[in-house]
Amino acid sequence: MRTFAFSFSDCFLMYISEEEILDHISAEPFRLISDAADELGVEAYVIGGYVRDIFLNRPSEDIDVVAVGSGIELARRVAKKLGKKACLSVFKNFGTAQVKAGDLELEFVGARKESYSHDSRKPVVEDGTLEDDQNRRDFTINALALCLNKERYGELVDPFGGLDDLEELTIRTPLDPDITFSDDPLRMMRAIRFATQLGFFIDPDTFDAIVRNRKRIAIISKERIVDELNKMILSPKPSIGFDLLDKSGLLALIFPELSALKGVETKEGIGHKDNFAHTLMVLDRLSRTSDNLWLRWSALLHDIAKPATKRFDPRLGWTFHNHNFIGEKMIPGIFRRMKLPMNEKMKYVQKMVSLHMRPIALSDDEVTDSAIRRLLFDAGDDVDDLMKLCEADITSKNPDKVRRFLENFRKVREKLAIIEEKDRVRNFQPPVSGEEIMRVFGLPPSKPVGVLKEAIKNAILDGVIPNEYEAARRFMLQRAEEMGLKPVE
Ligand code: CTP
Repeated sequence: MRTFAFSFSDCFLMYISEEEILDHISAEPFRLISDAADELGVEAYVIGGYVRDIFLNRPSEDIDVVAVGSGIELARRVAKKLGKKACLSVFKNFGTAQVKAGDLELEFVGARKESYSHDSRKPVVEDGTLEDDQNRRDFTINALALCLNKERYGELVDPFGGLDDLEELTIRTPLDPDITFSDDPLRMMRAIRFATQLGFFIDPDTFDAIVRNRKRIAIISKERIVDELNKMILSPKPSIGFDLLDKSGLLALIFPELSALKGVETKEGIGHKDNFAHTLMVLDRLSRTSDNLWLRWSALLHDIAKPATKRFDPRLGWTFHNHNFIGEKMIPGIFRRMKLPMNEKMKYVQKMVSLHMRPIALSDDEVTDSAIRRLLFDAGDDVDDLMKLCEADITSKNPDKVRRFLENFRKVREKLAIIEEKDRVRNFQPPVSGEEIMRVFGLPPSKPVGVLKEAIKNAILDGVIPNEYEAARRFMLQRAEEMGLKPVE
């Protein structure tokens, strides 16, 4: 029996036997595809990501099946065999079909040859052999096929050395990479995304072709680009992807604001840190403590306004005043252009970016209860996420400084817990509402109502009065009197 050996990105060697491969294709649907293909007299293969992930020992959901003949006919027959539990969808124009049964999703296609026109991702398609089909796929590791016909069940078909590339952790195109990327420029993003997700290297010829073809990314929709970016951001070490995007020249085209963070300027012998390198370090550090996609986006964007706010002051050196607030304002423009969701996810990222300096400022000096209450009030339920972001933001090379900051953050966290327990201001609404103020003083919606409401909120956050209704009402009456307002109730 043949044994396949693999060295993985996390540096241990793993072996997979033919028996284990057969195990992955032993479930009922594979057997039904096998029967259906033999009955129709067509060759059928499971191909692409599902096969790659067997060798990488990764979970895989979608199963792609290629038939040397009609994929649609094969799908019809498989659906019939699965009976009532199967749901068949046929896409005649594309020559593809899908069979869904419970959690299972099977995609069927006939083996094909494709050629693309210069300004579209829509290919001209002709019937082809299995090898034609493998050839038109993006990477050798995604072109592996396992035969499902009874006679050759589980036989691996690998004409482009996909297995060797898996072993060598290499992303390489089966065809001349200029053709593969020019045919479908999304594949440039996919190459970088797979390198990031799997910890693989991009073969130098393949990488050089990404550099040459980078401008073709213009024909790819923003949604697809963001889909790939999100997968990079959710990888264990997202910096791999952003470094490759930068080195290939793609970053400047798809995300110029991030590119603008690059570089170090020196004046009067004083340099500032490279904000791109710093941002990637923060993103990697955060990724060790949080899987939250939007918190990871916040890390990526936390210093996005540093280039716009950079000044040199001969007394202070480099400053980036208000970069957190300007950054917060830049986010809707970035989200709109990149077709990211313009909803509460964006608001969350804005909040994180705007508040990311606050805990650092707090830990500088003696932390007052009032400052902690204000932070709790402003961050609400997201205060724990904010603390994670701030902890990841400490990237100094000076270990003493890092220790001091992290120790201060620990104290801030302790205080946050104590004050929250005592004052419950995390999601607090002032105990006297605007309606009540209007009713008590017979006022229409007007400025004095807002002034009184704000005064009550500040009195609670500053610890002048407790967060309770009676105290707030007494405070309101007293402040109103000072303003010359009389109750009408
Ligand atoms: N494919 C391709 N070019 C693309 C997209 C996909 O050649 N632009 C091929 C690859 O053979 C790929 C298969 O279609 O393996 C299935 O694509 P998809 O489901 O998008 O990707 P997976 O490789 O399965 O990986 P993932 O699910 O992580 O995206």
